Amino acid sequence: MQRDGATTSLWQGTTTDFPATPQALPTEPVDVLIVGGGITGLTTAIELQRQGRSCLVAEAHSIGYGTTGGTTAHLNTFFDTTYDMVESDFGEDSARLLHTGARAALDLIKRNIAEFAIECEHNDRDGYVYAQTDTQEEELDKMFQASVNAGAEVEVTDSIPVPLPFRKAIVFRRQAQFHPTRYIAGLASAFVAGGGTILDNCRVSDFENEDVWLSVNTSQGVIRARFLIWATHIPPGINLLHFRNAPYRSYAVAATLSDDAYPEGLAYDMYDPYHYYRTQEVDGKRYLIAGGEDHKTGHVTNTDQCFTHLEAYLRNHFAIEDIAYRWSSQYFEPADGLPYIGHLPGNPKNVFVATGFSGNGMTYSHIAAVTLTELITRGESGYATLFAPARVKPVAGFMDFVKENADVVAQFVGKRLKTEKLRELAELAPGEGRVVKFEGTNVALYKNEQGKLFALNPVCTHAKCVVDWNGAEQSWDCPCHGARYSITGEVLTGPARANLEPIDLDEL
Ligand code: FES
Repeated sequence: MQRDGATTSLWQGTTTDFPATPQALPTEPVDVLIVGGGITGLTTAIELQRQGRSCLVAEAHSIGYGTTGGTTAHLNTFFDTTYDMVESDFGEDSARLLHTGARAALDLIKRNIAEFAIECEHNDRDGYVYAQTDTQEEELDKMFQASVNAGAEVEVTDSIPVPLPFRKAIVFRRQAQFHPTRYIAGLASAFVAGGGTILDNCRVSDFENEDVWLSVNTSQGVIRARFLIWATHIPPGINLLHFRNAPYRSYAVAATLSDDAYPEGLAYDMYDPYHYYRTQEVDGKRYLIAGGEDHKTGHVTNTDQCFTHLEAYLRNHFAIEDIAYRWSSQYFEPADGLPYIGHLPGNPKNVFVATGFSGNGMTYSHIAAVTLTELITRGESGYATLFAPARVKPVAGFMDFVKENADVVAQFVGKRLKTEKLRELAELAPGEGRVVKFEGTNVALYKNEQGKLFALNPVCTHAKCVVDWNGAEQSWDCPCHGARYSITGEVLTGPARANLEPIDLDEL
């Protein structure tokens, strides 16, 4: 299994059996083309298949390549946007509806596991949130009351499953956990067995609208579909949603403990960014999974330090024996706290999107699957208004703004640069990258372990921001909307569609 960075997640290290996918396009049109082979795409594919729709999943890389392979897989009925925030910004009814959707999402996961006999180490667990300061205690009280109002099974508790000091704690009953990539491998097998098609290495570029049909261009040819769903974490192209979702990175480790005191539950502190914990058993071996140190994508270059801080914090509180895996992954924080699920603004009526899941993608993926399936098969959904992407109001002159923004960035066409000068300028250590100023323009420069330099135009091909180096994942990350590129400039994650432009280096 592959992923969009240099680190290896626990899931990546312990999943091998995705179903073989065909490499030929189907000749018949399909009802729904789903772009993205992560948990959102595959869950939606299964739901639509249950309703008798023919579906094709097109994945630009391979199944689980994006955030599904880098999640820590907490299955929660509460969210980063807490019920008190939802209550105050969207109303009490919305908070209750959100909780109903979350409970249904966790039930849908169980149904899928039972119906398709998926072995993914799923277990029900309680989820604990604990306050460690006065201010956090006040916030926790508000969170608790609003969670009760929303219908959550939540209680005040005097113990938590992690060895950290706390002032007050609450516990949400009937949360859960699982092995996410074994789960989606099971979904993928069931989908293919049910007649569905998954195409790996199939990048969707654009489409033409032919009234009821969409003619979709991909790297493997044209696919005709009645509906298109962007389940790509963030849709490609330039859309208002890019300006309403901020990309963040989060850091996680899977560690073994010398005292065997693995937490029996899910736990969360209330710092910003917060730490999160749980235990996962994989093939008879237990791991403490812990995460935190979140920051905006492209805002930290020495990302190894995020792991260092996280590990130091853990070693202060747990008997860490070995850090078996460390990895980071990306999520999108929506401007008003709720995801955008439904019709993609500015597109034909048969084009849909699901994005802005914050750190709650495991739950929101299933809410999205239900919502999108209802919208496609019935033309309506009880969740449609709550998550409507159309709540983002168009901004006058938006496209002009984007174009001007693009025009002010110096373009870097056809230049050749002297390697020796760049080498002196950058003074990079092996394995390091940096954006350097050179003769009036920016150059993204990376030196590999053998001392060879790679130079790229650092202007992101999405909307022309300048990328920054991500040391831990060995990637070039865009701070604006989260596009990421490899050391040789290939797109790892959207919304960019085109690679970074390589710069030729003259060896003197
Ligand atoms: Fe939008 Fe880079 S991702 S400018």
